[in-house]
Amino acid sequence: MKLEFSNLDVDILQISKEAKKAKSNDPKVINATLGVLLDENGQLLEFEAVKEALDDIDMVVAKNYLPQDGGTLYKNSLYQYLFRSKVDEVLDRYHLGSTWTSGGSGALYMAFKYDKAKTILLPNIRWNEYDQIVEVVHKQIGTYNLLKNGAFDLESLKTEIINNNESILVVINDPCQNPTGYEMSLAEHEALAKMINEQANTKKISLLFDVAYLNYSSEPYFEFLLPILETYNSNVDIYIAFSGSKSFGVYGFRMGALLYLNENEEKVTLFEQKVKMFAGAIYGAPNSMSVQLLNEVIHKASLEDEQEQARNLINNRANKFIGLCFEKKLNFYTYINGFFVTVKTKEPLKLTEALKQYKVYVVPTFEGIRIALSSINLFEVERLVNSLKKVIDE
Ligand SMILES: Cc1ncc(COP(=O)(O)O)c(C=O)c1O
Repeated sequence: MKLEFSNLDVDILQISKEAKKAKSNDPKVINATLGVLLDENGQLLEFEAVKEALDDIDMVVAKNYLPQDGGTLYKNSLYQYLFRSKVDEVLDRYHLGSTWTSGGSGALYMAFKYDKAKTILLPNIRWNEYDQIVEVVHKQIGTYNLLKNGAFDLESLKTEIINNNESILVVINDPCQNPTGYEMSLAEHEALAKMINEQANTKKISLLFDVAYLNYSSEPYFEFLLPILETYNSNVDIYIAFSGSKSFGVYGFRMGALLYLNENEEKVTLFEQKVKMFAGAIYGAPNSMSVQLLNEVIHKASLEDEQEQARNLINNRANKFIGLCFEKKLNFYTYINGFFVTVKTKEPLKLTEALKQYKVYVVPTFEGIRIALSSINLFEVERLVNSLKKVIDE
């Protein structure tokens, strides 16, 4: 068995397929590999607001071609959804460019391709798909240490920026980082902005916020973050990769968008022209169901409550998991919110394999194993931690 870890060797869909097959033969199998939110009965969590919005979809529009960027209404719905009460402030302050993308993955691809950076700077513990995307756009991966003493390791990011001679795109997967569940504090965001501004005096730096798990943060993220976003120098290009997959539980609809914020209108126009060309070349037109769905669902009265309930569902699992880990002295990376928690290990591949004897399936990640709290119930949390303890002590 290969013991050295590489993100490119991890095929999450393949691992999930194996786990699903095992579970179909034996219901006792715990499938903690899936980045989807399941209820306590193992069913995909459905939002009533989404069901209602789907009823409102115009099937003639759904069958037709929509504008490549999703159209004006989609953009406005997106800005409304992200910036909430601050949307007018954002529109006053910035020119905003955006385009529909095939989920958050498509947004990341567009950003990595469009931005001129030669190096994409990623956290060491990360969603493994980033590596694939960087590879297909023929750029280089740089790595910063995500956490030091349980908090964001700004010094490591700074060192990597200083040591890299090329233009850089820094990826910040926040809130609810995949796979740790870490969430940066406002003070950490402030320090990040200060450091990036300093470094941007001598180097071309772009910044991408991957907010795929936006609604699983306990704070209204961009309302909180906006005062800090506004402190970034105008020569720092800022992108936001949006995904509707987790926020609305519609993983297959491929709802996503890439936003670009800048004070310079020409730069924003150029962005929109260029990404339109990419869209035309890659998929032609958006999935019209996802466009209409976002336009409708943001107006549904029950949406916010249901999203809060979804957060609570995971929080209950997380609290139980964390309590048991403390009890059994199992080490995990700082978890604050989100679908995943990561238990520390120097041998992720070995631990992943060993857990299978206890019918437990997880995903190996850098110096850890990723456990999807989103897809296991409270009862399984306990069995999973017990199995983990046995395997680690063996
Ligand atoms: C960190 C992160 N970013 C982006 C995505 C992309 O999500 P999707 O393409 O399904 O919308 C995911 C999905 O798992 C993710 O975990």
